Amino acid sequence: AALTLLVVFLIFADISEVEEDIGNSGGRGTIRSAVNSLHSKSNRKQILKFLDAEKDISVLKGTLKPGDIIHYIFDRDSTMNVSQNLYALLPRASPLKNKHFRTCAIVGNSGVLLNSGCGPEIDTHSFVIRCNLAPVQEYARDVGLKTDLVTMNPSVIQRAFEDLVNATWREKLLQRLHSLNGSILWIPAFMARGGKERVEWVNELILKHRVNVRTAYPSLRLLHAVRGYWLTNKVHIKRPTTGLLMYTLATRFCNQIYLYGFWPFPLDQNQNPVKYHYYDSLKYGYTSQASPHTMPLEFKALKSLHEQGALKLTVGQCD
Ligand code: CTP
Repeated sequence: AALTLLVVFLIFADISEVEEDIGNSGGRGTIRSAVNSLHSKSNRKQILKFLDAEKDISVLKGTLKPGDIIHYIFDRDSTMNVSQNLYALLPRASPLKNKHFRTCAIVGNSGVLLNSGCGPEIDTHSFVIRCNLAPVQEYARDVGLKTDLVTMNPSVIQRAFEDLVNATWREKLLQRLHSLNGSILWIPAFMARGGKERVEWVNELILKHRVNVRTAYPSLRLLHAVRGYWLTNKVHIKRPTTGLLMYTLATRFCNQIYLYGFWPFPLDQNQNPVKYHYYDSLKYGYTSQASPHTMPLEFKALKSLHEQGALKLTVGQCD
């Protein structure tokens, strides 16, 4: 009997409850959740069958050499050569080797973050992941500042930095990169054709100005692996978004995962307008030709995980 009691105690001790309303104070959400380590663990186990984030987060130096030819994942007929600069910036070991965090925040870019006041809460997490070099300084109250990993689709250079047409834009990008101050910069360089020059410009800038970032370039198998996992779970996504990729990777090294800024809808639950991105004027319905996402479908899958307690989705205000 004592043993049974001990087992029951241990099971319950493992369920770290973080019970709150989703955005209740903002009136935007109504779903209740508890981040539950057991659910997170079983999720991690399932995902590990498809990918290993520690490996797939980046191609390593030993596996490529300058001049190697790579076929883009989504455009198999197009190729790129591994440049000297890209080679120089490949990590020698996984940037997440042996890493484990108690809580992680993944910050999506939805306008739902505006007036959320979530910045301080986001900054309390052990590891904070952001997407596509989204600005933080001007929005710190709502999105926080802490950044441990930030992604950068090559298209960001065009959309947010005017393709570095002049010195002013080059300087802006350089400042943003310097502000990363040792965090991981995750560049999907091998996904789709069209971003080759942009990746090269960024690589050059980092090397020339000795920017203190740890670059990572996702493996060629990551996308297929992530898609495979979700397809097996009946989530038919054509191309996972950055946010979903980050969630899937994070299950490997985060005990509890908190999502903010995931809301791919033009109206909130009170029918108030929500910007597509918190920081620019991009409109809904936007999908670059290279990346036809199915964000609402992804959101449904994440919401269901939230309801099971495997993650926590915040779509309203933080306390
Ligand atoms: N996101 C969301 N709702 C929005 C905007 C973004 O849920 N209204 C989430 C998505 O998971 C998205 C992530 O936040 O992947 C980051 O946003 P964004 O920079 O727009 O990412 P992508 O759409 O993946 O980037 P791209 O358009 O360059 O493919």
